[in-house]
Amino acid sequence: MDLKEFIAIVPDYPKEGILFKDITPLMNNGAAYKEATDQIVEFAKDLDIDLVVGPEARGFIIGCPVSYALGVGFAPVRKEGKLPREVVKVNYGKEYGKDILTIHQDAIKPGQRILITDDLLATGGTIEATIQLVEQLGGVVAGIAFLVELSYLDGREKLDGYNVLTLMTY
Ligand code: PRP
Ligand code: MG
Repeated sequence: MDLKEFIAIVPDYPKEGILFKDITPLMNNGAAYKEATDQIVEFAKDLDIDLVVGPEARGFIIGCPVSYALGVGFAPVRKEGKLPREVVKVNYGKEYGKDILTIHQDAIKPGQRILITDDLLATGGTIEATIQLVEQLGGVVAGIAFLVELSYLDGREKLDGYNVLTLMTY
């Protein structure tokens, strides 16, 4: 199955000059969503993962079915103000803006092996911030999985030394 057939490319969204990669057709197709999930589970199954962590919102869509398949929990990373209890936070920049990401302080136990998931690697700002949150809490980033990598934005340079899977590259 060619998963790229299920990515819609939308010019000038959300800003002029951005070629937006829309993953909703992939999620909308049961076979494609299952294939993408299965490929990430295959990557993760020998990494001894204790917990999956994903940034809102699209990191949930990728990470939750993977956590279910692995039989481990899922911890959400959310934009500031969305998590109700004590959090740790980090500022970050991404392809089109700046923001603050947070995670509940008790979401990860020191030494737990973490799989981080997101739909897309662009500048790497979001994933770098997510890594910082995991490591601040003492988690070990055992793997990072994306559906899509925009190689022309060089996000990979921020992921040196990490075990990274991307299913599609543009
Ligand atoms: C998008 C995408 C990635 C991130 C990639 O999320 O889902 O998380 O940008 O860009 P980066 O590598 O330059 O950080 P966005 O912040 O638009 O939010 P969403 O997932 O809630 O739609
Ligand atoms: Mg996102």
